[in-house]
Amino acid sequence: MTNKRIWLCLAHMSEAGEEMKFIKEAFDTNWVVPLGPNVNGFEKDLEEFVNHPDNGRTLSKKVVALSAGTAAIHLALVNLGVKAGDEVICQSFTFAASANPVTYQVATPVFVDSEPGTWNMDPNLLEDAIKDRIANGKKPKAIIPVYLYGMPAYIDEIMEVAKRYEIPVLEDAAEGFGSRYRGQAVGTFGDYGVMSFNGNKMITTSGGGALICPDEETAKRILFYATQAREPFPYYQHEHIGYNYRMSNICAGIGRGQMTIVDDHLAHHIHVKDRYVEGLADVDGITVHVAPEDYMEPNYWLNTIIVEPDKFGMDYDQLRQILDAANIESRPLWKPMHMQPIYKDTPAYINGVSEELFCKGLCLPSGPMVTDEDIDYILETIKNA
Ligand SMILES: Cc1ncc(COP(=O)(O)O)c(C=O)c1O
Repeated sequence: MTNKRIWLCLAHMSEAGEEMKFIKEAFDTNWVVPLGPNVNGFEKDLEEFVNHPDNGRTLSKKVVALSAGTAAIHLALVNLGVKAGDEVICQSFTFAASANPVTYQVATPVFVDSEPGTWNMDPNLLEDAIKDRIANGKKPKAIIPVYLYGMPAYIDEIMEVAKRYEIPVLEDAAEGFGSRYRGQAVGTFGDYGVMSFNGNKMITTSGGGALICPDEETAKRILFYATQAREPFPYYQHEHIGYNYRMSNICAGIGRGQMTIVDDHLAHHIHVKDRYVEGLADVDGITVHVAPEDYMEPNYWLNTIIVEPDKFGMDYDQLRQILDAANIESRPLWKPMHMQPIYKDTPAYINGVSEELFCKGLCLPSGPMVTDEDIDYILETIKNA
């Protein structure tokens, strides 16, 4: 038993204190507002990060820094013209923030289940859902696939379906910062991509997010909505409903500092995954979730395991309680949206995959603060269980 609690994924700052340097600069120059050099600098860093895939292409995406990933999803829906009464297809196996902005627009999320390889949106079920919604009289206004726990989805197949029915795609890459699919950053395949820099993510700005936009003109429109939709008049004139969703220059300073160590964070999460895979290989009834295809490079934001009770001798929740008593945080997988009380009457296309995962899976500590000794201790605790 250790005195120190081992957490899933804590914020971790650069040893050189780069974050504080950018914050101090903001204070010294009095840029303590939701715009300024750090916001611009952070957006440039993010564009640099996503626009240079390892596949020989160069992209020209524009990134707008916002107050949260949830705000990014919301603004993308606003700009896609999602309105009251519309339907938006959303992956069911996700955190509520993927779907809630659809409800903010008084539109209806339509949930689609996952396929078992990536745990993300099943492209075949997606097509069935689209056909059925169209037959019911409503073509969905957008599709929101998610990169759960940083795992790439079968995005080529999803994009193919989306293009066939001419429906825009909003990739929720909140958990997928740094994950690549065929060498290209997730969040850059669809019309929009969402990033989150919440305190528990791959990099953090304490709280924050960003929207990857297809071009400059779209980015300007997103910025317009993010800053209260002020029209270009000397006085305040409003012709649209706006939001206060811009990132603060202080938070962006943290983000700029974090970008100096993003590669270290990525390497660490992958190292932790390798340790779990190796350490649990001979444990009957426990499987570490890894990429099902070699062209998928997950960030392994949170490493996850499936516990088969008949082989392991206990279920995921009994194991969670043992880990908890040993001062190790673990967490059940996301409860699918179609099982949530708030969305119980919402249309859903279900194949049983996410329900089964929810009943068997656990997230294990994975962040930059998790040491090799911590992993030894976690592995030992699981094996002793
Ligand atoms: C899948 C998913 N979507 C959206 C969000 C929302 O991001 P934020 O917390 O920055 O609003 C999160 C994380 O919190 C998430 O895990």
